[in-house]
Amino acid sequence: MAADHAGVALKAFLKEWLETQGYAVRDFGTYTAESVDYPDYVRPLAEALLREEVNAGLSICGTGNGVSMMLNRYRGIRAALCWLPEIARLSRAHNNANVCSLPARFITTDTAQAVVAVFLTTTFEGGRHQRRIEKIDALRSTPHSNHKNHLLDNDRL
Ligand code: RB5
Repeated sequence: MAADHAGVALKAFLKEWLETQGYAVRDFGTYTAESVDYPDYVRPLAEALLREEVNAGLSICGTGNGVSMMLNRYRGIRAALCWLPEIARLSRAHNNANVCSLPARFITTDTAQAVVAVFLTTTFEGGRHQRRIEKIDALRSTPHSNHKNHLLDNDRL
């Protein structure tokens, strides 16, 4: 698990619950409500996952987007933003997601718990979905835009 200050309370709640369910949890922080930068906390989670020291990740920030954006820079990591149990189920069954990202500021603890329960117990269906995942992993590098934020540049719209 990893979270920023916006996700720290939900992380603590889920960690306690997961441990009662028998899961061994590694917690990469943050541990307080002091404002931090989420990339610093999801990076060790990404590295542990890629080294196969952990089987799955839970990443939490205010929206779930920042942590997902960071994690999805790593080839082999598939972080899915999950705000409903059915989204979590499909992220495992179809996308073989290995990280569940939660939007702490937009989800109740009950729903987050249900999302995580489904995420951790749903298996990947393989088949056509495996082919699609391989196409994601085949992407080795992408060209960088030399116009920062060009999609938001009004001159181009
Ligand atoms: C922190 O205020 C917030 O920006 C962060 O938790 C996250 O939502 C970013 O994507």
